[in-house]
Amino acid sequence: MSPVSVEQKSDRSTKPIIRISNLSFRYFDSDSFVLKDLSLEIHSGEIILIAGKSGCGKSTLLRAVNGLIPHQHAGEYSGKVVVDELEVASTKMSLLATRVGYIFQNPENQIFMFSVERDIAFGLENLSKTTAEIREKVNWALDVLGIRDLALRAPHELSDGQKQKVAIAGSIVMGQKVLILDEPTSLLDPYTATTVVQLIKRLHDELGITLLIVEHRLDLVSKIANRLIVIDDGKIVYDGNPRNVLYSANLSLYGVNEPTIVRMAKLLSSENLISRNSSPISSDDLATEITAAASSTKILTDSFSSKKII
Ligand SMILES: Nc1ncnc2c1ncn2[C@@H]1O[C@H](COP(=O)(O)OP(=O)(O)OP(=O)(O)O)[C@@H](O)[C@H]1O
Ligand SMILES: [Mg+2]
Repeated sequence: MSPVSVEQKSDRSTKPIIRISNLSFRYFDSDSFVLKDLSLEIHSGEIILIAGKSGCGKSTLLRAVNGLIPHQHAGEYSGKVVVDELEVASTKMSLLATRVGYIFQNPENQIFMFSVERDIAFGLENLSKTTAEIREKVNWALDVLGIRDLALRAPHELSDGQKQKVAIAGSIVMGQKVLILDEPTSLLDPYTATTVVQLIKRLHDELGITLLIVEHRLDLVSKIANRLIVIDDGKIVYDGNPRNVLYSANLSLYGVNEPTIVRMAKLLSSENLISRNSSPISSDDLATEITAAASSTKILTDSFSSKKII
């Protein structure tokens, strides 16, 4: 099945910052290919949400962008991945690390120094920056993430949400143009998950970072993404504006849970309780649709006072 493509908001006149052409990859100890002739272009400033059932190849795709594949995972590799003009397969990981940041699902995996500030400084120290430059950047990142009070704490004592912020700080100090997050909220409670997603969006808006986010919680991330890509069995099956994909794709076929708001809106519109043309993806959107429907039919207006019911 060819991917369904719908309009995108990003600036298509510029060269893509990430260009994946006909990428296939098989881990050396596996019989089958995980990525199958996958092609994808991502433009600077996009926020890409990647979804798909467990094992479909999402993390493998991310590894192919940051260089872990093919540099650290042996296997059969064909096709080409170019990030910010660097061909990943022929560029050293140390150089790629100045362009692409990677936040693991479990921040424990990338926090290993004795204090938060040393941890954030780690990547810069490897770039042989002066002490003054490093201090300035670390202080900047602590402020951007609102974690200055944690500077001297031991990372292993922090909560998962705090660790996630430290990991993100360690990435943005490097000035990378692309930030990859593999299930960044999976260990977080709903409140902290929302906070981290808002923070990621703010980093995008303020620093212009291109974001690739793999996330099962579509309800949280589809609101900030400009593209939702659904992967199945190593191939892209949907690629488009999240609203369009969520309302046109049969996501359950691909093991993806549709957000509760979308499910509710589909039920309400099938009963003609909201417009059949509506496609809310946030509770505020849905409240607006319900209010509009209630006031247009002049019933329920008093009881449906918009956001209170969501
Ligand atoms: N290092 C590895 N060596 C061999 N096989 C691997 C390796 N990493 C992943 N795989 C296999 O590749 C396939 C895709 O794995 P991948 O981690 O990319 O899936 P995913 O979509 O990220 O899944 P999840 O949602 O569970 O994180 C799976 O069958 C997995 O078992
Ligand atoms: Mg994964």
